[in-house]
Amino acid sequence: MRILGIETSCDETSAAVVEETGDAAEPWAIRSNVVASQVAIHREWGGVVPELASRQHIRDICAVVERALAEAGTAWPDLGAVAVTQGPGLVGSLLVGVSFAKAAAAAARLPLVAVHHLAGHIESLVLQNGELPLPSVVLVVSGGHTSLYLVERPGAYQRLSRTRDDAAGEAYDKVAKLLGLGYPGGPVIDRLAKSGDDRAVVLPTTRLTHADRNAPELRGDLDFSFSGLKTAVLRHVRARQHDAAKRASFTDQEIADICASFQRVVVTALIDRVFVAARRYQALSVGVAGGVSANSRLRAELQARGARRDVPTFLPGLALSTDNAAMIAAAGLRKFRAGSTASFDLNADAALVL
Ligand code: KG4
Ligand code: ZN
Repeated sequence: MRILGIETSCDETSAAVVEETGDAAEPWAIRSNVVASQVAIHREWGGVVPELASRQHIRDICAVVERALAEAGTAWPDLGAVAVTQGPGLVGSLLVGVSFAKAAAAAARLPLVAVHHLAGHIESLVLQNGELPLPSVVLVVSGGHTSLYLVERPGAYQRLSRTRDDAAGEAYDKVAKLLGLGYPGGPVIDRLAKSGDDRAVVLPTTRLTHADRNAPELRGDLDFSFSGLKTAVLRHVRARQHDAAKRASFTDQEIADICASFQRVVVTALIDRVFVAARRYQALSVGVAGGVSANSRLRAELQARGARRDVPTFLPGLALSTDNAAMIAAAGLRKFRAGSTASFDLNADAALVL
C-alpha cells in the first residue's frame, strides 16, 4: 500500500508518498518527499512569523502535493490512505494541511489518518534505519521540542521528560540572533563552532533534581532547560559591550569560541540525559531525531558514547531530520495498520500531546 503524507505544522510545506515494503525489518520505502521551505521568507524577520507561514502554505500546498504524486509515479486511485500532521504546531499552518488532507481524502474516497508531529520525528528513525531494537530511548530535539521518549513496542511512545522552557533548537536560534548570525541559527552555529575553542567561554550547565510543583509531569533529572544558557550567552555579550576599553565588536575567533562553548553545553546536556535514560530503562538502542539531530557534534558524540556503552545508536539522514512529510506518512502507515483512522471532523490541535 502507498500512503500520501502531508506536513504543514511550522514553516515547511511538505508532501510525500511512502510505500510498504512487506519486509518487517524495514517496513517502508520513500517514493517521493517534496519540501517547500519558507526559510527565505522568515529570515527577514529573524524567526517564523505565523501569519506569513499559513498564507504561504496555502499558496504552496496544491503544487507540493501534485509534485509528490508525480515524482512517485502515483495517481490518487493508487493510494491507500492520506496521513496528515494534526499537531502540535502553529494552528494556522496546521489548518492548511488538515483542511487539504480532509478534502483530498473525501474526494478520492480514502481513509484519513491523523499523525502527531513528534511521532513522525520518531518514525523518521525507522524510515531511515529499519525497526529499532526495543526498548529504545528516543530524543526528539527541534526548534519547538526537546522531549525524551521510551518506545517499548512499535508505535507506543511514552514520554519520559521534556524541556521546562526553551527547546534546544530555539536556544540555537536565539543565540544566533543575539550574535547577529541570522536565521535559522542551528546550521550557522554548527559551522562556526568547528573553528572555535569549546572551553573559551564558561557557561552554566543546568541540572534539574526536583519535580516541578506546578507541572507534575516534569519529574526531575531527565528534564531539560535551555533558557538560562541563552541568558548566560546574552550576559557574556552585554558585558563585552559595556566594557568601554574593548567596545569593538567581537572578532570572528571570539564568535567561533562563543558558538563552540554554547554548542558543547547543549550537546552534553542532550546526550547525558539520553544515556541516563537508556541505562535506567535498559534500552537496547537509542535514537535522536528532529531538526537539531542534523548537528554535527551531536551526531558524532551520540555515536561515540553509544560505542563506548555498547548501545546501538540511530539517527535520521539529514533530509529526514528537519520537518518533512515522509516521516508523517511513515507514522501514518504505522497508525493505519494499528486500525486507527480519523473522521472527517478532524481538527488541528496546536497543543496535541503525545
Ligand atoms: O524539526 P525542525 O525542522 O522544525 C521543528 O519542528 O522545530 O527543526 C528546526 C530546528 C531549528 O531550531 C534549527 O536551528 C535547528 O533545528 N537545526 C540545527 C541544525 N540544523 C537545524 N540545530 C543545530 N545544529 C544544526 N546543524
Ligand atoms: Zn519538527
